[in-house]
Amino acid sequence: MKIVSCVLMSGLGIEIHETAFVTSTFRSLNAELSRDVYARLWSNSRTDELVKKYLNNVCEEEVSAHCLRNRFFLEEIERLKPAVVINFGSGFSMYPFLLDKSIINIEIDKEEIISYKEERVNEFQKNGELPDRIIHFIGVDFSKDYVGVLLEKIKRIKKNKTSFVLIEGVLFFLSRKDTDKLFDFFSMLQRKGDYIGSASFQKDLKKSKGFKKLLDFCNKEMVKTEASYWQTIEDDFYRTNKNYELLNHQDYFSLSEKYNNEVKLEKDLILNENFYILKKIV
Ligand SMILES: C[S@@+](CC[C@H](N)C(=O)[O-])C[C@H]1O[C@@H](n2cnc3c(N)ncnc32)[C@H](O)[C@@H]1O
Repeated sequence: MKIVSCVLMSGLGIEIHETAFVTSTFRSLNAELSRDVYARLWSNSRTDELVKKYLNNVCEEEVSAHCLRNRFFLEEIERLKPAVVINFGSGFSMYPFLLDKSIINIEIDKEEIISYKEERVNEFQKNGELPDRIIHFIGVDFSKDYVGVLLEKIKRIKKNKTSFVLIEGVLFFLSRKDTDKLFDFFSMLQRKGDYIGSASFQKDLKKSKGFKKLLDFCNKEMVKTEASYWQTIEDDFYRTNKNYELLNHQDYFSLSEKYNNEVKLEKDLILNENFYILKKIV
């Protein structure tokens, strides 16, 4: 996959897959906090340019926010010890290499991202830059018709094993209809006692200066044909799901306390993301 650096009529012309490079760069900028020692492998000059612009124009505390998110989900998965981790919209996150090697990993994202990730991971493993892991890469677009085929593929890998579904940094780009469809899908493939980890913004944040800056940036700099739902999700979405109970709810401020991260900016400027752990109850 080429990292497109085309100059559009206006703005940087950021494509959705590039947001995955940006997230990885954030994680690499404080590997001690994120515990992602491999994120640096995805570094490239185009992303460095985007990250600089994003930190200056939207919120400089996004580095800490993304590092804390990675740290939280990594440590939740370590604690809950699922046999299979299924990462929806996995981008360039590196959980398979940070987790125990016995875990089976299923990485799902748009075809162009997932095939690029698979190719590069193979190269990094050949060079000895990444350890061997059990990883299945699957290309899917969540706005298309995927249910039957994907369910079969995952069931063949997962069998009757325990699982942790992760969806982080993705729901902002999806419609509510596609989000409902995904959570119904998670329930179809998971068994009682399995977990979901999810990250999303709450509607209230829309009033903040930080979120307005984020939307300004996205509307100006992202390619218009890409998803632009900028979805927010209320706690009730997680609390009232009939198939799952909400076990744990954190946000940037609670994780900052947990991991000794100093909050520097005033609250109104921070993109406070919420993090949820759900357990399947039926
Ligand atoms: C900001 S990145 C986050 C990546 C990863 N979850 C992480 O936290 O590092 C958003 C990811 O969502 C994926 N994505 C967005 N819309 C999607 C869709 N309709 N189908 C599949 N993947 C999608 C993008 O390709 C991208 O990898």
